[in-house]
Amino acid sequence: MRSPEQIIAVMRRVFLSLIAVAVVALLAALTFAWLPTTTRVMSAAAATEQHAALVEKGRYLATAGDCIACHTGAGRQAYVGGLALASPVGIIYSSNITPDRDSGIGNYSLNDFDRVLRHGILPSGKTLYPAMPYPSYARLRDEDVLAIYIYFMHGVKPVHAENRASEIRWPLSMRWPLAIWRKLFAPDPDQLPSVAIHYSDPVVERGAYLVQGLGHCGSCHTPRALTLQEKALDESGAAYLTGGQIIDGWSAVNLRGNGADGLGTWAKQDLADLLRKGHSASHAVIGSAMSDVVVHSTQYLYDDDLDAMAAYLKSLPPERNAASTFAVNPATARALQAGINDTRGAELYVDNCAACHRTDGEGYMRVFPEIAGNSTVLSADATSLIRLILVGSSSPVTAGAPSRLGMPGFASRLSDAEVVKLATFIRQSWGNHAARVTVGSVKSIRNSITRESNPRLSGTRADAGVANSSR
Ligand code: HEC
Ligand code: HEC
Ligand code: HEC
Repeated sequence: MRSPEQIIAVMRRVFLSLIAVAVVALLAALTFAWLPTTTRVMSAAAATEQHAALVEKGRYLATAGDCIACHTGAGRQAYVGGLALASPVGIIYSSNITPDRDSGIGNYSLNDFDRVLRHGILPSGKTLYPAMPYPSYARLRDEDVLAIYIYFMHGVKPVHAENRASEIRWPLSMRWPLAIWRKLFAPDPDQLPSVAIHYSDPVVERGAYLVQGLGHCGSCHTPRALTLQEKALDESGAAYLTGGQIIDGWSAVNLRGNGADGLGTWAKQDLADLLRKGHSASHAVIGSAMSDVVVHSTQYLYDDDLDAMAAYLKSLPPERNAASTFAVNPATARALQAGINDTRGAELYVDNCAACHRTDGEGYMRVFPEIAGNSTVLSADATSLIRLILVGSSSPVTAGAPSRLGMPGFASRLSDAEVVKLATFIRQSWGNHAARVTVGSVKSIRNSITRESNPRLSGTRADAGVANSSR
């Protein structure tokens, strides 16, 4: 047995060595964070030839990158920034990226621009929050970075508007830990060409470039690790584009080749149509997040590029763990048409939904989407389906589909228990087979909808945007 003095002495030694270890670890982390990142220098010497063509090319690529969606606060001019983005540590505001010399990026060299866009490093040497999707833009080719730079410098009007400081409190507001995150998790653009996947079909290659790079589809559609990096940046990782993130309340669905919860049964044309118009013959985008992508970005892309993106997405194998299935089964339609709706779920469907989506769940081509075999209905995560039933949705207005189609919300008509029965009925009829919906998930989604409509209780991107526009 040791004496109390001995025990205290041992504990003191343990304690001192723990402090020593912590100090060494902190010093190592600081050194790692502060070691400057050298990048291959880009210069714009030869860029002035074919100037107008380059500005146009840059404009198109900036559209494909959807810079405008994040860099335009509510009620502001394009690219003036100020949009509030919710992050786990607090609200950050996007920057003014017009070429204003004082408050925008007018003093950027091409190399400064490249370091922000592909490497996530500001001219001051500080690291950007990964709300700016530089881990995706890392894939951009030099000539495309140049074109986008020339567009911002010469195709965008300078507007003076100071950047808003983030609402992140010290010590979380310190940026040096972001450098550690970047060095550990963001790809090194100069190494990428040697590790990126090469595709034998040039159409698929182009689609992959757009989806993985400028389109940054994975920043919403790929699940994130605890440390917040996307679990994979291309299909060399099994989690790539398998969905699951909740964006502004809507779950970004699985885009892999699964037949039920996924794009397995979608025709390539369906996908290209959806990206161009916000809906296809039988599917529709719902909610704000994906509608914004269509409205600001994909509707403007060339048909060739949309076809290429569709070809690439359709080349992705199914996710291995998806549990939902679909096999056409006419029994539901027959029963409903014969007036047999003997479950509460069936009754609620006939009363509230069948007028538009029909008793056979097939909807009306190009107007009301089909529900039988629908990948949103069959998604492992029923968040979007539940939210849709509660708040409804209206289709994005695009050049290719100028009239707005709407679905009403049923929050005031249906109780939580009824939403459970209805959503479960839809997920388990016409051959659909997906897990039951739980009352807990309906409750929590209804609560968050209530919070969003009360700005004092909420700090999300949507309400912060409204607050902006009223200033
Ligand atoms: C998903 C949202 C999002 C998208 C899309 C996006 N950005 Fe950003 N960007 C941000 C945010 C947020 C910041 C500020 C980050 C910070 O303060 O660390 C930022 C910062 C920047 C900056 C730094 C400006 C400065 O000096 O402060 C530049 C330049 C920039 N973005 C350019 C672009 C371009 C070009 C595109 C399109 C190819 C783009 N961004 C797309 C969110 C986005
Ligand atoms: C800002 C986040 C975000 C980005 C970026 C994004 N998506 Fe989505 N996407 C969503 C959400 C949320 C949904 C679920 C809503 C829905 O089902 O319509 C969705 C749905 C979809 C759907 C299914 C629509 C349906 O009817 O089931 C497709 C296909 C899709 N996205 C493709 C893409 C592609 C391709 C890209 C890249 C060009 C992309 N998304 C980028 C958030 C995003
Ligand atoms: C007035 C007609 C109408 C009624 C009634 C209606 N819907 Fe819809 N539904 C639509 C429209 C239009 C869309 C597409 C919305 C969009 O593009 O934003 C849609 C979309 C959907 C989708 C998403 C399809 C996809 O491809 O992602 C589902 C699921 C759905 N409705 C289920 C229901 C349920 C369940 C009910 C009953 C509670 C219902 N709808 C009632 C018109 C309707």
